[in-house]
Amino acid sequence: MADKTFTLDECKKHASDKDCWLVVHGKVYNVTDFLEEHPGGYDIILTSAGKDATQDFEEIGHSNSARELLEKYHIGGFAGGDSAPGSRNTGAAVAKSGGASKAINVLLPLLLILAAVLVNMYLKKE
Ligand code: HEM
Repeated sequence: MADKTFTLDECKKHASDKDCWLVVHGKVYNVTDFLEEHPGGYDIILTSAGKDATQDFEEIGHSNSARELLEKYHIGGFAGGDSAPGSRNTGAAVAKSGGASKAINVLLPLLLILAAVLVNMYLKKE
């Protein structure tokens, strides 16, 4: 089932609460059964129905468990067709920037601790 590929036009036909598809990182998901369960609410997910929801999905900063949950609803690949500027490769771009900001989140506190230890050592010497 998941080896089918859908165009944006096909996805657009599934944009209601009775039949809701969305695209995240180049994959198409049928999330109709998930709408009621979505912790972020039913309406918000519908605003991304039938289109490339990668940016919306990433902007919220969904957890890894949300990403794992996605796989349950995977029905196929996305053939593209979104003419919005810059949207075609948003998947990879967002994933990359997400990775970089995560690294900073870990490295920055470590650097601050290191600086504090060094200052402390320096002050003790005096
Ligand atoms: C089908 C794909 C989606 C899945 C599987 C999903 C799953 C989840 C899950 C599990 C949460 C709980 C918090 C977390 O674990 O991150 C969540 C929260 C949320 N989601 Fe989604 N979501 C999806 C799509 C979307 C889309 C397209 C939007 C926006 C248009 C959205 C907006 C939100 C918001 C606003 C929250 C609440 C965040 C908060 O209260 O902190 N979600 N989602």
